[in-house]
Amino acid sequence: MKRLKSHSAHGIWRGLSAVLIMGLAGCAGLALTEIAPPVNPGMLDSTADADAMSRGRQTYLTRCTTCHSAQAVRDYSLKEWERIIPEMCRLAKLSPAQSADIRAYVLAAIKIGKT
Ligand code: HEC
Repeated sequence: MKRLKSHSAHGIWRGLSAVLIMGLAGCAGLALTEIAPPVNPGMLDSTADADAMSRGRQTYLTRCTTCHSAQAVRDYSLKEWERIIPEMCRLAKLSPAQSADIRAYVLAAIKIGKT
């Protein structure tokens, strides 16, 4: 695997509150909207479910930040995410529904995140 991005080191193994996450994002010079862009019309296509994506983003920002800081969605390719999502959803002990929501969000967000 790739090493976690350097800014993650600040947060790894710490319990993080949402406030602290924003602080960490700030110290890396990345706005939260760059790490995990809000669901927007550019992410929607005929198969997209905006509610699932919104839930997925919320889960991403809360459940995926307990062991390390929020990873910028755009830092990983589709191929990498297809490997990472199942592994991390298992580590985070997410339900199949929560995992599906995260997947819907991340895959939509990387499509627009490469700008
Ligand atoms: C129980 C702790 C834990 C939770 C919860 C967790 N992670 Fe991780 N994550 C890790 C560890 C440890 C690593 C580094 C080792 C590895 O890749 O297995 C990592 C690595 C990563 C990486 C880098 C992987 C790579 O191959 O470079 C990403 C991206 C990531 N996590 C995203 C997430 C997402 C998304 C979630 C929520 C679904 C999540 N993590 C939840 C512990 C966790």
